[in-house]
Amino acid sequence: MPRVLMLKDEDPRSRVETIDDDQLPHRAVSVDIDYSDLNYKDALAVSGRAKIVREYPFVPGIDLAGHVRESGDERYRPGDKVIVTGWGVGERHWGGFAESMNVDAEWLVPCPERMTTKNAMLLGTAGLTAMLCVMRLEEAGLAQHSAILVTGATGGVGSWAVQMLSRLGHEVHAVTGKPDQGQWLKELGAYDVHDRTELEGEPRPLEKGRWAGAVDTVGGQVLANVLARMDYNGRVAAVGLAGGTELATTVMPFILRGVSLLGTDSVMIPFEQRSRAWQRLAELPEELFSTMQYEEIGMDLIAERAEALLNGDIHGRLLIDPHQ
Ligand SMILES: NC(=O)c1ccc[n+]([C@@H]2O[C@H](COP(=O)([O-])OP(=O)(O)OC[C@H]3O[C@@H](n4cnc5c(N)ncnc54)[C@H](OP(=O)(O)O)[C@@H]3O)[C@@H](O)[C@H]2O)c1
Repeated sequence: MPRVLMLKDEDPRSRVETIDDDQLPHRAVSVDIDYSDLNYKDALAVSGRAKIVREYPFVPGIDLAGHVRESGDERYRPGDKVIVTGWGVGERHWGGFAESMNVDAEWLVPCPERMTTKNAMLLGTAGLTAMLCVMRLEEAGLAQHSAILVTGATGGVGSWAVQMLSRLGHEVHAVTGKPDQGQWLKELGAYDVHDRTELEGEPRPLEKGRWAGAVDTVGGQVLANVLARMDYNGRVAAVGLAGGTELATTVMPFILRGVSLLGTDSVMIPFEQRSRAWQRLAELPEELFSTMQYEEIGMDLIAERAEALLNGDIHGRLLIDPHQ
């Protein structure tokens, strides 16, 4: 009889409930969940500020990590350490804000041997996405020791991107709306910290080209400004919309500077690419996890922390222990 965070289309919208095992979706693999985490998309789903969830009652949570309890699929056995991110879990399919969940085998990735389920969820979709951005930039030919901009730097994706890129030897310039977190961003490896207001004005088609690469989690006017400031052959991994979905730009950065805009998705990427990214994440040194700031909460605090996250009051990661 698992406890879950149940969303209903009524007031209050979310509540921790104990349900019967047979109320869980009928899917091939039952996972006992050790940890989940709270991402931007989860915050939108839990708060109801965007139409992420369309059918109620619903268990949100786009990420989960734990151990297989029962499996009707030959690829997984009881006791296997597994991770689920993406595939519409926590959006269309019941997700990770639960003590256990039944999932499709296709959604699972084996948790790498040397990675704990806790570290897997300190990374979660945010860390996976940051690694996918790194891989996109590398595949597009990013040179070593490049100057790279990371926007939304104190957020989940942004803060992991700062750590990963600086660890790889790049000169990371972190852009944030939280100047008081500048010192922490430098501890994560940022070479320099820029105030977000620098990138919020009306951009000219081209500004002085400064950056060889960028990871943009913000979109909108900020992304337009990033594009105008890319150096010749610059590469921008565009991954988020925290600042808006619009993109008012011109073709100038693309046709005069050869800039590439690299759309990056973590939800539907195929298994092989996903596994490769998790293997690279497993190689990250343990000290990166101790530098990452995080708050560990139980399911009863998710709704409150979701509001704080959407109001821009969170930096680092929110780890969820469903057994708390
Ligand atoms: N494509 C994918 O597969 C994928 C995967 C994961 C996430 N995402 C998207 O990536 C974005 C970041 O996700 P996340 O989980 O890292 O979220 P998050 O932890 O909430 O971080 C977002 C960061 O963006 C900045 N920000 C917030 N509101 C803003 C605003 N109005 N204008 C400009 N900047 C703002 C803040 O950083 P500062 O205060 O430091 O500026 C905030 O910490 C979201 O849009 C999310 O939906 C996409």
